[in-house]
Amino acid sequence: MVDTKVNLLGITLDNPIIPASGTFGFGYEFSELYDINCLGTFSFKGTTLEPRFGNPTPRIAECSSGLINSVGLQNPGVDKVIGEELPKLAKVFNKKVMANVSGFSVEEYRETCRRLNDCEQIGWFEVNVSCPNVHGGGLSFGTSEKAVSEVTKAVKEVTTKPIILKLSPNVTDIVSIAKACEDAGADGVSLINTLLGMRIDLKTRKPVVANRMGGFSGDAIFPVAVRMVHQVSKAVKIPVIGMGGVSSAEDVIEIMLAGATAVGVGAANLVNPYACRDIINDLPRVMEKYNIKSLSEIIGGCK
Ligand code: SIN
Repeated sequence: MVDTKVNLLGITLDNPIIPASGTFGFGYEFSELYDINCLGTFSFKGTTLEPRFGNPTPRIAECSSGLINSVGLQNPGVDKVIGEELPKLAKVFNKKVMANVSGFSVEEYRETCRRLNDCEQIGWFEVNVSCPNVHGGGLSFGTSEKAVSEVTKAVKEVTTKPIILKLSPNVTDIVSIAKACEDAGADGVSLINTLLGMRIDLKTRKPVVANRMGGFSGDAIFPVAVRMVHQVSKAVKIPVIGMGGVSSAEDVIEIMLAGATAVGVGAANLVNPYACRDIINDLPRVMEKYNIKSLSEIIGGCK
């Protein structure tokens, strides 16, 4: 009998699997396919203070081993999330959920988190400073030590729950950004968000995605994620949620060996909506294969 439990900032997860924000909506649609209470938790769609329609279409470009998205933080706004999405989720999910929050100013991050803080269903905040799809939004915060520090401090002032800063790989030195978050009081970091990418249609000679560029995710970015999780987890004392191209139980074990305490699964949900359930079901078999009795014991175990 293997033990898949991990502890994420004071809350025990039955397993480390967390569907990544933007690939699982507000959860209840997936509950029509399977019982989502099998998940460790999940991170809901990036929420902003005001409702957002998102970017013009087309927003998706398929690539070998991945896809580019330029959704543009489409979401109903924080008040509807509190008034409508979370009550619907409560009917199908009895665990704590992770609130993913985005913003265009330090004040917006602070106010959105302040409004969500009283929601009993929320266990953690994932503060997205890494969305590549909106001008002047998260990514511009996530590329500067000063800006991530300001956002972290502002959110910390108004929240009583752990805050996890979601970091971008589109930087020269992700370690210094992670350290700046830690120094400013972040409880954890999650990485990596998508890599900025672009495709061009040969017939029209125009970018495939209307916003020209978008965030590249999927199997192809997994080695980048493993490398960055390894570097960051060696440099900070706070837990790291590892994500980026995770699509199998083997990938989960590999990114945990690199230093992840819990594991986000993103693009795989778009290819196979049962991906997270399948990975969870497969974990005991793969743990036995590699003689792993407890997942929490392998965190950062890369020699
Ligand atoms: C989006 O909504 O554009 C994706 C969010 C993200 O990549 O952070």
